[in-house]
Parts: sequence; structure tokens; C-alpha cells
Amino acid sequence: MKIVMVGSGYVGLVSGACFADFGHEVVCVDKQENKIEALKRGEIPIFEPGLTELVRSNAAAGRLSFTTDLAGPVSKADAVFIAVGTPSRRGDGFADLSYVYAATREIAQALDHYTVIVTKSTVPVGTGDEVERIVRELRPDAAFAVVSNPEFLREGAAIEDYTRPDRIVIGAEEDRAREVMAEVYRPLYLNSAPILNTSRRTAELTKYAANAFLATKITFINEMADLCEQVGANVQDVARGMGLDNRIGSKFLHAGPGYGGSCFPKDTLALIKTAQDFGTPARIVETVAAVNDQRKRAMGRTVIAACGGSVRGKTVAVLGLTFKPNTDDMRDAPSIAIVTALQDGGATVRAFDPEGMEQARAALPAGVVYCSDAYESVAGADAAVIVTEWNIFRALDLDRVKDAMKAPLLIDLRNVYRPDQVRAKGFTYLDVGRGIRAAETGTRGAAA
Ligand SMILES: NC(=O)c1ccc[n+]([C@@H]2O[C@H](COP(=O)([O-])OP(=O)(O)OC[C@H]3O[C@@H](n4cnc5c(N)ncnc54)[C@H](O)[C@@H]3O)[C@@H](O)[C@H]2O)c1
Repeated sequence: MKIVMVGSGYVGLVSGACFADFGHEVVCVDKQENKIEALKRGEIPIFEPGLTELVRSNAAAGRLSFTTDLAGPVSKADAVFIAVGTPSRRGDGFADLSYVYAATREIAQALDHYTVIVTKSTVPVGTGDEVERIVRELRPDAAFAVVSNPEFLREGAAIEDYTRPDRIVIGAEEDRAREVMAEVYRPLYLNSAPILNTSRRTAELTKYAANAFLATKITFINEMADLCEQVGANVQDVARGMGLDNRIGSKFLHAGPGYGGSCFPKDTLALIKTAQDFGTPARIVETVAAVNDQRKRAMGRTVIAACGGSVRGKTVAVLGLTFKPNTDDMRDAPSIAIVTALQDGGATVRAFDPEGMEQARAALPAGVVYCSDAYESVAGADAAVIVTEWNIFRALDLDRVKDAMKAPLLIDLRNVYRPDQVRAKGFTYLDVGRGIRAAETGTRGAAA
């Protein structure tokens, strides 16, 4: 199959490299010339385990190429995937579809024979209808179909998710398009990955429903963590006791500083807006988004409370900045709200992240001191906060950390340490929902 990916960001690049690895001939297109030039040199603009090797080997085999010219490859393609960004629109939080529609117009002009146009970007219900309308208006002569094929990959495990997906959702309105999609995913059919054939609107909504549900699970356990702190219960045990029930499942029941990333925050907002527009408000999701939003900043206040109620003139080490480990993605990372709250309170923030330093500089407020490792970050600090659970923070030399710090206060927002072990080293230790905060301070973090 001849495949074009329009947009060579996270999803476009991973999808393109994986489709090429399936044996298809793939051209990845992007507007950003520097990105395409780097990709041609084998340089990968994002951090994703295994992606560099996959891109280089498939490029070397001649199955994967990169260009800024959309028209040429689209005119020869069997399937054109739209994988451009759909960020939150300023003002109302609805998905900004301007990139999707701009790409659609360019694709329309280049169509030459029957082509399946696939929205892989996460797009609200009805976007496929609008894509179809735009193409038909610009090219009444063109033979094409519009299909929804939402992407469920997780950053940090993207290649594994792509090659062994839990499911592939294909929303199509005609058999011919379904046959093309079956050919595209044939190698995965052979691995018996479940394929769900649905209507286009159903596929579009399935993606939002899945993300909103996962966001709800996280937010639910975060609220249970708050309650655990008050009553002296352990949220990890609560989560385990819940998760062993197959109807619930153990994933996404880890209490922490709130969800972030490039998908959950914007996708929950877009779903809320869609549901409101159709007169069926999604009240649960509205609450989830509001609770999560306030939680991220509340984590900053929790740190301030742990520092005695004020961080003015104090130094706080922040360990981990990206929204989760194994990615350099800083989009909507909880660290942004936490660092901002600490700086607002008058703290000096010394930060370190294993892969996200470059992205962090663009996303965090000015004035952060960037350090070359965890130990440099904690030097002279009044408190250290683990914000992202990178593996290297799970195995810190705690004696060395304590010696370097001004005061041995560790706030573990990811529950990576065993409280007894850290306290035995002489630290004051706070975590999320393991009953320690009530015991340690006699109260919950002051303003949290
Ligand atoms: N990142 C994830 O983990 C993930 C997972 C599932 C779904 N998604 C969805 O996939 C979509 C893409 O997300 P992403 O994280 O890959 O975004 P991204 O910002 O990393 O990449 C988008 C790319 O599209 C390019 N682009 C924009 N308009 C273009 C055009 N007209 N022609 C060519 N290139 C163009 C941009 O330059 C950019 O490189 C979004 O809708 C997102 O919600 C993302």
C-alpha cells in the first residue's frame, strides 16, 4: 500500500514508521522544514523508546521517506492519514480543527484516483462529515472516502502499542474504504489484534469516551487519596483492592498530582463542549476536568504547606518535569502548575528531568534553575519534590540526597518510595494518600 501521513509529529511519525515496518510504502509530510530535514538525516525530534532505530531502518530500506511536498505523494496514495494537531481552542476549549481542515483542503487539491482519507487525529464527532463536505466542494470530480481511525497509542510505549494494540477502531461508511483499511492493517489482523468496525461518528466518539473514562479513573483515585490522607488509610492498598476486581481493573489507579499530557486535558474539554452543544452535558467529565485542574496547583500548595506554610526565600528541588516518564512531552504537565505555584510563593526552583529539559525550558516560567542531575538539583534545597516517576528517581542514593539538602524534606507525589525506608534515613517524608500526611502533620496539607 502507498500511504501518506500528513503531520509528522508524535502520532504521524510513530504511525508512519510502524506502517513502513509492516511493509507499506510511507511518505511522512510536515509543514515544518527543519523537522523534515532532521528526519531525512535520521534525527528524531521527539524522545520515544525504539523510534530512532525504527525510523532509520525503514528509511534505509526505502519504505519510509520525508517531505514538505504534500501534493506529489498524495496523488499516488491509496490512503492519506491526517495526523495533525487538534489543540484546545482558545476561549471555549473545543478542539481547534483549523489544522485538520487546512490539511483537508491541501489533500483535496491533490487527489488523483480513489483515495481513502483517514482522520487519525483526535477529532470531535462530525469532523469526518465536514472533511467529506470540504473535499466534495473543492473536488466534485474526486473519488474518495473519509474514514475515522482514532489513535490510542501511549507516549513512552508508542511502538509497542502500535504493533500490539488493544484494538483498532475503524469508522467507515462504505465497504471499499473498509477494504483499503483492512489492507493497511493486514499484518495486525494476522496477529489477531481486535478490529472494531463502526460508523464514522461512533469511531470519533469512541476515542473521546475512552480518554474521558481513563481521566475519570485517575481523578477518582486521586480523590480517594485525599480521603485516605484524612482517615489514615493507604490509597495504594485501596487501589489494589479495587483493581483486582476484573470489572474495575488495576490500570490508571495510581494516585498522583493529576493527569496532564497532550491528550487527556484537551480531549476531556472537547468532549464536554460537544456534549453541551448536543444538549446532553457530560456532567461527570465536567467534574473530572475541574477537579484535575485545581489539583495540579493544589500540589504546589501542598509542598508549601509541607515547608511550614511559606517557601519565600526557600529553595525547592523539582525532580521530573515531563507529564509522565519515557517522554520529553511537557504539554499540560503537572510540573508547570506546581513550579508556577512555588515561584508565586517566592521559592527558587531547581529542576531536573532526564529527557525533558529542552521542552521544559519552553514550557516553564522564567527563573527556574536547570540542573544536570538529581543531586545537583537537591543541593542546598529546603525540600525535594518527585513530580514524575522516572526510574532514576526510584533508586536515588538517599544518603547523598540528604547530605546535599539544607533540610531533609522529601515530597513524593508519585509514591515511588516506601515511607518507612525514607524515614529511616532521617527524612521528613510526605506522599500521596498513604495515610502519612495525617500522621506526620496532624492535618492535611493546609490549603490543598
Ligand atoms: N501524542 C499522543 O500521545 C497522541 C495519542 C493519540 C492521539 N493523538 C492525537 O493525534 C493528533 C496529533 O497529535 P501529535 O501529538 O502527533 O501532534 P504534534 O503536534 O506532535 O504533531 C502535529 C504535526 O502536524 C504538523 N502539521 C500541522 N498542519 C500540517 C499540514 N497542513 N500539513 C503537514 N503537517 C502539518 C505540525 O507541524 C506537527 O509536526 C492530535 O489530534 C492528538 O490528539 C495524540
